[in-house]
Order: sequence, then C-alpha cells, then structure tokens
Amino acid sequence: MKDDKVKKLIAAEEKRQREGLELIPSENYVSRDVLDAMGSVFTNKYSEGFPGKRYYGGQINTDKVEQLAIDRAKALFGADHANVQSHSGAPANEAVYHAWCEPGDTIMGMELSHGGHLTHGRPGTISAKLFNFVRYGIKDIETGEIDYDAMLSVAKKTKPKLIIAGFSSYPRELDYAKFAEIGKEVNAVLMADMAHIAGLIAGKAAKNPLDYGFHIITTTTHKTLRGPRGAMILSMGQVSNPLKPVDKTVQNLPTLIDRMVFPGIQGGPHMHTIAAKAVAFGEAATPDFQEYCQRILKNSKRLADELMKRGFKLITNGTDNHLILADVKTSFDLDGGEVEEVLDKIGLTLNKNVIPDDPLPPFKPSGIRLGTPAITTRGLKEDDMAQVAEWMHQAVKNRNDAKKLDLLSNEVREFCLQFPLPSDN
Ligand SMILES: Cc1ncc(COP(=O)(O)O)c(C=O)c1O
Repeated sequence: MKDDKVKKLIAAEEKRQREGLELIPSENYVSRDVLDAMGSVFTNKYSEGFPGKRYYGGQINTDKVEQLAIDRAKALFGADHANVQSHSGAPANEAVYHAWCEPGDTIMGMELSHGGHLTHGRPGTISAKLFNFVRYGIKDIETGEIDYDAMLSVAKKTKPKLIIAGFSSYPRELDYAKFAEIGKEVNAVLMADMAHIAGLIAGKAAKNPLDYGFHIITTTTHKTLRGPRGAMILSMGQVSNPLKPVDKTVQNLPTLIDRMVFPGIQGGPHMHTIAAKAVAFGEAATPDFQEYCQRILKNSKRLADELMKRGFKLITNGTDNHLILADVKTSFDLDGGEVEEVLDKIGLTLNKNVIPDDPLPPFKPSGIRLGTPAITTRGLKEDDMAQVAEWMHQAVKNRNDAKKLDLLSNEVREFCLQFPLPSDN
C-alpha cells in the first residue's frame, strides 16, 4: 500500500487485535478468504437490480457470485429466499418494516433494556418516528424468562402487524413456538432478528426460528456468522420478479423484501461484500464451523461460571448462548463505563451495557456485556476462561494501581501472542 498514513493505521489496528482479547460479543475475526473477497475487484462494479435482472451491463461474474451467496444462505438456514444485498443490520430491519407495514402500524419488539436492539423502536430512530412500537420483556431477572402472558395480552390489545424476536444483550434462548402461537392469535408476521446468533443457528448450536413458523429472519453477517460487515434477509414464501409490483401477502414476502431493499432504501449492492458473504456462508456450512459453535457455547458457560466465582453478578445467573451480561454496579459499585475503561488498559475489550430496567443512564449503565465468539475463533479453550475471568477481576480490584495494570497488560499481551489471527493463514 502506498498511502503511508492509512497503512500505519491498519498495522496499528492489526497489532491491537493481535495483542488483546476481543470480548465484544458482536465482533469476530474473519478468515483470510473473507478478507481477500472484501478486498477484491468486485468493489469496482455497479450492479443495481438482482441476478439476471440488472440495470447495468457487465454482470457475468456479479450475477454468479450473488447467486452463489443466495443459494448458500438459503441452504444454510432452510429459507425459501435470501436477499444478500442489505448493507447492514439496521437497514435490513428497516427494509422489512417498510416491506410489510405502513406508517402508523404497530410493531412489537423486546423492551430495549431487556435486550432488544435500537432498531426495534428506540425513540429517535427513523422507524420509531414512523411506526408505533409496543413491547414485551422478561418476567424475572434471575431466570430471564420472557413474560409471554403479558406479551399476548399487549398483542391482543394493540394488534401488531409484525412481531420481532431478537436481541443484542439477552443471554438466554427464546421460545419461538410461544412467539408463533401469539403471532397466530393476532395474525402478525413473525420476524426474527438473529444478528447475534445467526452463526450459532447456521452451526446447529441454536434453534432456527424458521422451524417454528417464522416468516422472516434478518441478520448481520459479521457477528457469530464470521463474515464481512453486512447483513441479509431470509424469508419464506414465493419468489417472483422483484422488478414488478406484487400484492402485500405473506406469500409475497420475499418479493416485497427484495423490492424494499432495492430500490426502496438502497442503491447499488456492494458486490465485494456479497462475494465475501458467499465465502463466509461456505465456511459456515462445514463441520469445522459446527464444532466452532459448540466451542463458543462451552467457553461462554465456563466464562460465566468463572466470573460468578469471582463475585460478578450475572443477569439471569448464566448464559445459554455466546454472550454474558454482568451487573457491575451491584458487584463492585462501578458503572459499566468504568469497567470498560480499566479493562481496555490491560487489552481486554468489551462494552458497557444497560441491564434490565437499569436505573443508570446508557452512557454510565450498570452493566457490561461480553462474549466468546472472537476469542473462540482465536483458539482459546474452556480452561483459558478461568484466566480471562481472573484478569478481569484483578483489573477491577486494582483499577487505581497503574503498576499492577501494566503487569496485567503485559501478561495479556504475552498470552495473546500464542494465538495467531485466522487471517495470518
Ligand atoms: C439484534 C441486532 N439487530 C441489528 C443490529 C444492527 O446491525 P448494524 O450495526 O450492522 O446496523 C445489531 C447490531 O448490533 C443487532 O445486535
């Protein structure tokens, strides 16, 4: 690379990623092949439209690579259709809302502080301005069980056109059959925002909402799925020509979604990212990836146990998936931002996070959120989780001792250097 300034920044970021432990549960390390596809000449191409139906010439290779990504995505999740053009998770969700709902319609999503994502109706988002969001949440913070009775009663009263199952900070598995019952009762379309756990679903380590009657899955491709930064929308129904208008029926959801992604809210697809998605979906279909997902879960459970042993109060007292939410205010009388900051100093990266019905504000919340997808990719095993929890505890206990933090930081760096990045190969 000739641009020295950018080259230096890339090298510095690679060093940071190599010498630290990435505990943010929505991050991962992609393979060399995914990186190569992202950095390929597909970035030069305009391809508005869909395979076989484009508004520009020269699509002989783009059509093939997008079709490959679509076919692999459908096979991985058992969907009738896949739109692989969504640039990211937020626009993917937006596309579904507009494909199925009209402004003023009601959409039901998880209470944000209980784990729901910003795009599920946080005030200030464009979707919250256009749609009427109603909520469901957890019944009991100790178990994390969703209050399905309350959910049904709100759904009966407000008649949502769309019900969203999905989360950014919920450490348990959802009961998709219950969602389907409620959806049926009020005649709502069911969308699962599986951004966090799509990899676990693809790797058969978590349930697939499409097996329970869900109509749509939206997901990012860069979290547990370990692909490029991007998203896709899977749906059930009949696929017809996305360039022609169709009636708003459940059967037509695939076409309605394609039409809303393009030309509804996006222009040309990012073909280099789509090529990288195809690579990642190919990788996710392998036995190795299934084994990786099992290791994510084992590491996550063990890390949760080791943290609890050291006095971290965990929301729902454990985890069923890749992520862990800890109430550090109750545990150590620190806010999540303070813990995030001290752990950054020793090379452990995670994020501050609200806990259910958090009395503290989002910039100084009571919790931290962490997870195991990235460190599992890196090669850490269950027994390493005791060491990770110990470093976290030591850093929190010695947060005002700069010398001790330096020592810990050196230990973390030495440890990390034993584990190559997947893109080294
Ligand atoms: C559940 C969920 N949906 C949507 C998104 C938004 O994805 P993006 O940041 O790619 O727009 C996220 C991102 O964290 C998420 O966790």
